Amino acid sequence: MNAPIGVFDSGIGGLSVLQALQSALPHEHFVYLADNAHAPYGEKTDLFVRQRTHAITRYLLAQHQIKALVVACNTATAAAIHELRAQHPQLPLVGVEPALKPAMALSQTGHIGVIATRGTMASDKFARLLDSVQGKARFTVQACNGLALAIEQSTLPQQATQAQERITELLVQYTSAMGTFGTGPSQMDTLVLGCTHYVFVEKQLQALLGPDVRLVSTGEAVARQTRRLLEAAGLLRSDPDPPLATQRIQLFTTGNLDGLQAAAERWLGLSADSCHQAPPQI
Ligand code: DGL
Repeated sequence: MNAPIGVFDSGIGGLSVLQALQSALPHEHFVYLADNAHAPYGEKTDLFVRQRTHAITRYLLAQHQIKALVVACNTATAAAIHELRAQHPQLPLVGVEPALKPAMALSQTGHIGVIATRGTMASDKFARLLDSVQGKARFTVQACNGLALAIEQSTLPQQATQAQERITELLVQYTSAMGTFGTGPSQMDTLVLGCTHYVFVEKQLQALLGPDVRLVSTGEAVARQTRRLLEAAGLLRSDPDPPLATQRIQLFTTGNLDGLQAAAERWLGLSADSCHQAPPQI
């Protein structure tokens, strides 16, 4: 089936998932919606995030006839994936959640750090996930207020330098509040990136925590799951590839177009004409 796959996030964080999706599904077309005008989701109410998730899903279905949806945002997944599944039972849906179980498989010390937004950490879904692994490893969790916003701002040329300084400051503050990272007994040797934005500061985190600490994100697992669902439903694209990535991937923003263009070029190598302003009524 030749319709596109819809992907959305509060902003540019979901581009880290889109990177993995496009390499796992090179023949597919994607429509990405960055809800920058309403970012960050992680510090908004649950009701607000649910309303945005429903509005964006309606827009992607009505305007782009998507055949599947990837909620490339941990916060929106935690708040609304159950409602989306109930409202759109026919739509293949994939969400993201902090990769606690994959982290357990990697950790040698049995002590794992988890960073995510306040919204994800406060959700019932995360509480259930943490419950399901309790006793099998030790988890130290940290909500990182302000970090997703600083990562958003780092794409805007006028704000980039200040945002970078803020990112460094927040990373130092939050990781030192969590305890000691390393491979020694009882140290955290694994850190779960429970927000799709955080993948874009992976290098800085690695430099801060040292080369032996494993950073775990979810993009590749989400891409594999999306592929499995599409295969099972007989929905993989049948047409041959169009030649240009710009034809395969269309990005829309409810906020600042310059920021999305800069991020799309930097992270996905896409040219500015892949990026568009979303209609104001979403
Ligand atoms: N990228 C999102 C997540 O994975 C949301 C960040 C935010 O808007 O607070 O949680």
